[in-house]
Amino acid sequence: MARELIVAIDGPSASGKSSAGTLVARRLGYLYVESGAFYRALGWKVRACGVDPADDAALQKLSETTVIDVVRTSNGAKILVDQRDVTDDLRTPEMSRIAAQIASNPLVREPMLKIQRAMANTGGVVMEGRDIGTVVFPQADVKFYLDADPGVRGKRRYQELAAKGLPVDLQTTIEEIMARDRKDMNRTVAPLRKADDAIAIDSTGLTLDEVVDRMVVAVERRRTAITR
Ligand code: C5P
Repeated sequence: MARELIVAIDGPSASGKSSAGTLVARRLGYLYVESGAFYRALGWKVRACGVDPADDAALQKLSETTVIDVVRTSNGAKILVDQRDVTDDLRTPEMSRIAAQIASNPLVREPMLKIQRAMANTGGVVMEGRDIGTVVFPQADVKFYLDADPGVRGKRRYQELAAKGLPVDLQTTIEEIMARDRKDMNRTVAPLRKADDAIAIDSTGLTLDEVVDRMVVAVERRRTAITR
């Protein structure tokens, strides 16, 4: 029987990780995990409790006591914080900012690492984030690093937020994602970087289907090599 693989996808904001990851997982019949949702969920709790994201003691307490659950539904995943469905509140620019701020804190990352590793203990997982191929699963079977021009990424994120009816403008969205990428790349713990053995895909001139096809081909090739 073929062993099921761990597929890691990293890359900057709006580089297509979620769209491609979801489709790759569907094609492979794998579980898809968006690790950023955990940081956003804790960020939601930080804000709901009025905690200062720079207050280490309060942050540690929250990360130890908050229960974050992912519930699979026919429409994708629902994120529950202490049993409350917060899915629709997590993808705002404010939640992105708070998530990136708390994600640079090792006190927050440590418990996240345990949750993320536990979700993939039997393989058959596509997990995306910033440190999946470098820290969470350095031994992942296949690693991808997705990227695209900042203007293209900004436009994608802008369209996504505008479609949700959020009051956004293109230039501010581009500046926000670039500021967040700088923060994610320059932090001391688990900075965003391409793992040496990751397959780099620049999606600037590619359709989503083309990106997904390339990824599935690479995973199938690896799966065949392992079972030989
Ligand atoms: O991917 P997403 O935009 O939802 O991630 C939100 C933030 O969570 C990122 O900007 C990053 O700071 C943090 N994050 C992280 N490590 C991951 C996933 C997300 O630090 N593996």
